[in-house]
Amino acid sequence: MNDQVIIFDTTLRDGEQALSASLTVKEKLQIAYALERLGVDVIEAGFPVSSPGDFESVQTIAKHIKDSRICALSRAVAKDIDVAAESLKVAEAFRIHTFISTSTIHVQDKLRRDYNDVVEMGVQAVKRARNYTDDVEFSCEDAGRTPIDNLCRMVEAAIDAGASTVNIPDTVGYTVPSEFGSIIEQLFNRVPNIDKAVISVHCHDDLGMSVANSIAAVQAGARQVEGTINGIGERAGNCSLEEIAMIIKTRSELMGVHTGLKHDEIHRTSRLVSQLCNMPIQDNKAIVGANAFSHSSGIHQDGVLKNKNTYEIMTPESIGLKNQALNLTSRSGRAAVKSHMDDMGYKEEEYNLDTLYDDFLKLADNKGQVFDYDLEALMHFANLRDEDAFYKLNYLSVQSGSVMATTSIKLQCGEEEHCEAAVGNGPVDALYQCIYRLTGYEIVLDKFDLTAKGEGEDGLGQADIIANYKGCKYHGTGLATDIVEASGQALLHVINSIHRADKVAEIKQSRKTTQTV
Ligand code: KIV
Ligand code: ZN
Repeated sequence: MNDQVIIFDTTLRDGEQALSASLTVKEKLQIAYALERLGVDVIEAGFPVSSPGDFESVQTIAKHIKDSRICALSRAVAKDIDVAAESLKVAEAFRIHTFISTSTIHVQDKLRRDYNDVVEMGVQAVKRARNYTDDVEFSCEDAGRTPIDNLCRMVEAAIDAGASTVNIPDTVGYTVPSEFGSIIEQLFNRVPNIDKAVISVHCHDDLGMSVANSIAAVQAGARQVEGTINGIGERAGNCSLEEIAMIIKTRSELMGVHTGLKHDEIHRTSRLVSQLCNMPIQDNKAIVGANAFSHSSGIHQDGVLKNKNTYEIMTPESIGLKNQALNLTSRSGRAAVKSHMDDMGYKEEEYNLDTLYDDFLKLADNKGQVFDYDLEALMHFANLRDEDAFYKLNYLSVQSGSVMATTSIKLQCGEEEHCEAAVGNGPVDALYQCIYRLTGYEIVLDKFDLTAKGEGEDGLGQADIIANYKGCKYHGTGLATDIVEASGQALLHVINSIHRADKVAEIKQSRKTTQTV
């Protein structure tokens, strides 16, 4: 049996569908670049029929990513499959992923169909997808709760119809490792054409078993694992791919398999996904948590000082965690900044060196030393920033202390600059009052987070907000050495997105009116 485990990443599909505010096309492309650098074999970029935005994201990713295969999801419905194929056709290599539920509860209560019809729908879906590509994946949704005879029948029929990968999801995270491993083993023993397809697994984490179940499946013969970075996904999330990667590497003798991942990209990819998805990583999370490699107890520290292997089963360097050496200063030139970006593996098309260098100089003037993590933060933020934004913060002054805070601002509103001042129960509150008054937008904040980027009290602060405006959720981010300014940028990020959407709607409406007249 082949000893390579294919890594199928669904951060941009299963992961993204669980976020409170959707990612923009630009953000999804940034994540796709990171996944490509990580060496992911297949990137599930979205569910194109679900919205024009999802279609555009899949198409954009398909256009730009060359080293990973791009996949799109479709129900076992002709239109979904045709739309998926349309979004993927610009890709160098692509896969269509189609699925239907197979568990009795889903078939009877959700689909309200007979199982024979379900098998036939699955077969027709695979055949339709095969008109577009030889690389077709078929998933039996809720396979973990599907009676084994029914599952064997569906898997055999899908392979006969031309599926080259058959995926066995534990959609509701219900199974335990011995049970899930045994499902895979039974498929290998009972499905006559099983050697014609790769068997894949896709486990959810409702009972905290997703990684253990996936590993049990690999031990039983599965050769594709689906999951997400940091385990983000529906409800309790998906199988964490960084955990799978490091289990397979660290226990390679026991596992007898390998992946094609570049493990030293794990840390960086994890931080990017956390940042863009606005999903903090718990400190004690395996592999990528802040404490994953830190030893607190005196006995452990003593042991590690004598021999690292006493308490360390893998090194921080193996996931790309480096000690941040003193880096750049305002005397460093563009070439030095570019060389640091090259060393970190960023391609020139991922950022604009002129913009990055300008931002770097401003930060270096403020902060003195600029580290690699600062450069990364500046790059990500510059990619989010909208140079044509209608509202821009030109000036900010804050007075705060143990009494009410006062903020005054100058805000660029298109061609004009307006001034405003307000008091609030803190500087952010006062600043937000100014912005609401000048823009006329009243936003409800669902979430407000401040995080330090990197180390030290002189570091960059990042503000993330989830804002609700007329029932739609928006994610706004701001980055500055001043956390009040970062908070203002986050709100303006949201207001500029709303303003742009309002303008587009106005133009559409006026076109309609002109046509009617
Ligand atoms: O969890 C699940 O069953 C899925 C399928 C669409 C593969 O996400
Ligand atoms: Zn899923």
